[in-house]
Amino acid sequence: MPKVRILFDRVRLEEKMLEEKSIELGHDTKMIDAKTTNISTESKKGDFDFGDVVLERCVSYFRGLHFTACLEFLDIPVFNRLDVANNCGNKMLTSLLLKKHNVPTPKTYFSFSSESAEGVLEKVGYPLVIKPVIGSWGRGVILLKDRDTADAIIEVRELSDGPLDRIYYLQEAIKRPPRDIRAIAVGDQVVAAMYRVSSGGFKTNIALGGEPILCEITKELEDVCMSASKAVGGGILGIDLMEDEKNGLVVHEINNTVEFKGLARVAKKDIPKEMIEFAVRSSSR
Ligand SMILES: Nc1ncnc2c1ncn2[C@@H]1O[C@H](COP(=O)(O)OP(=O)(O)O)[C@@H](O)[C@H]1O
Ligand SMILES: [Mg+2]
Repeated sequence: MPKVRILFDRVRLEEKMLEEKSIELGHDTKMIDAKTTNISTESKKGDFDFGDVVLERCVSYFRGLHFTACLEFLDIPVFNRLDVANNCGNKMLTSLLLKKHNVPTPKTYFSFSSESAEGVLEKVGYPLVIKPVIGSWGRGVILLKDRDTADAIIEVRELSDGPLDRIYYLQEAIKRPPRDIRAIAVGDQVVAAMYRVSSGGFKTNIALGGEPILCEITKELEDVCMSASKAVGGGILGIDLMEDEKNGLVVHEINNTVEFKGLARVAKKDIPKEMIEFAVRSSSR
């Protein structure tokens, strides 16, 4: 009987659903609280009950990433793998990998000082979208429509001086309908997809009031998602796409611990079942 472990820091509906599905599938299932587990250089696999495979489901990206490194140190299969989590957690790394693997993605400019970011804005022109390279739920993603807005955002970054504030990620603003697409890719298939229709603003995140509407999984969507998944190393992924008026589907982001509670209610496939079965299948190879 495969032993499935679900690593969490906060139990959301998704983690509950994964636990219940794993039990229903007959697996020995346990939840592991990342906040109360200590690991050291002296640790051995046998010191813990990490089972045969771990699904990393931490809300905190950095907690999940660092815990994943420890699990891989102990030779425990974990989804997603450390390299995949790292590739997806940082939007700059994701953009570079997508482009490198010929996956359609928006034009994106990287600068490493406020002065050179200003130079890009002057040269490329407005509007451009600025994003923190690490972040989610649309936080800090801002449409820079003109020089005054850009100056203000750059000035705030100068003042706040966080570790990533000197990394400027500036992206062409895609001309698209007021929606984007979230697809859930598990291994070599897309198991579900939805449109996220904007509640009025520029961003379409569900966390910001975007309305989820079931989206048909066309061959084009499946193909783009599979090449995007391969580009970052594969696994269990939330792939965000936009419908560019000119170029068709473009991938702008890949999420490492994907939320799916809304989609699970309407999807034809059983999302948690697909995730658990994929993890068990891949770890027993
Ligand atoms: N280049 C872009 N052009 C137009 N809209 C964008 C662009 N990039 C992001 N958006 C909008 O902003 C939302 C949040 O951006 P995203 O890159 O997915 O960051 P997050 O990780 O915070 O979700 C997207 O879902 C989309 O609606
Ligand atoms: Mg997103």
